[in-house]
Amino acid sequence: MATPALALDLYTSLEDETCDARIRAAKEKLKGRAVILGHHYQREEVYRHADLTGDSLKLARFASQVDAETIVFCGVHFMAEVADILSRPEQKVILPDLAAGCSMADMANLAKVETAWRELATVLEPDADITPITYINSAADLKAFCGRHGGIVCTSTNARGILEWAFKQRGKVLFFPDQHLGRWSGHKLGVPLDEMAVWDFNRSMGGLTKEQIRKAKILLWNGFCSVHQMFQPEHISNFKKKYPDAKVICHPECAFEVCLKSDYVGSTEFIQKTVHAAAPGSRWLVGTELNLVNRLHEEVKHKGINVHFMSPMVCMCSTMFRIDPQHFAWTLENLAEGNVVNQIKVPEPDASQARIALERMLSVKTV
Ligand code: 13P
Ligand code: SF4
Repeated sequence: MATPALALDLYTSLEDETCDARIRAAKEKLKGRAVILGHHYQREEVYRHADLTGDSLKLARFASQVDAETIVFCGVHFMAEVADILSRPEQKVILPDLAAGCSMADMANLAKVETAWRELATVLEPDADITPITYINSAADLKAFCGRHGGIVCTSTNARGILEWAFKQRGKVLFFPDQHLGRWSGHKLGVPLDEMAVWDFNRSMGGLTKEQIRKAKILLWNGFCSVHQMFQPEHISNFKKKYPDAKVICHPECAFEVCLKSDYVGSTEFIQKTVHAAAPGSRWLVGTELNLVNRLHEEVKHKGINVHFMSPMVCMCSTMFRIDPQHFAWTLENLAEGNVVNQIKVPEPDASQARIALERMLSVKTV
């Protein structure tokens, strides 16, 4: 029988090294019963304990495939929700700190998206004319909205292919919450910039005229990632002055001008793989979250590959950082004692409707 839950207060002042040893011991006790999934932005002290690592898409796939009775998700809230939706009903998903959210995901909510849909109905027939696409960085009820309205989920890996799929269904797309991923993917698909209009969710009719709405092929929600918006085109120009032969790689959540000036644009997994496979002696400017870049630097320096962070400022995802060794040790030791703390459970009907949009995404063949 489960003993009462161990209180978080007992852990908050523990040293990282103590937590490290206790995490290892709890993992040993849990062998086979729990799997730890870790996103690439996790801090090193947490990441090193992950059984499986990846970007959002890879981690979603792992969650749908693993057998363990519990998935401990070292990432942010929307990722743990996806893991719950795609895993089997009897499996449990734990997020070590419930405050680990995503500020970009919070820039769209169901009330605002439903308002947009109603306003668009004064110009078009949304359910016949528009495919809603939600970036995976969004709450489960927005994925459910897409499930109900013939829409789909995308990630930074497959956004272009998903857009292509969406245009086969209907002539227009409402893309939320990240305008930058939507714009870059539309551009890669050949949609002209003047056929992409920004939907300002704080203004009536998105701040657009009826004519602008009719003309737009893609309506871009004006959300963004506060970490990736710190990277500027000048950071690239200045670096290239110093190192003309260096390569530049960034995440598609960066501004359009930053993506345009980069040699490669892709997901966190793509960035990892590309730099790992680079030629010895090569030099890379990387535009994504600091924990990933610091780790990459350490992983490839022995091959003579030089990794530089794109911004002179510290651009860290503060919500990813909330998963610390203390919360992690707390959840694992409780689990080893039979107590499930911080379980993420998406309620019905959102879970079933969101699953439709997620499964659509997983079934689309993208390059
Ligand atoms: P990836 O899917 O590329 O890992 O991106 C997730 C994310 O939140 C980037 O900010
Ligand atoms: Fe969200 Fe940006 Fe953090 Fe990614 S880096 S989880 S988009 S806040």
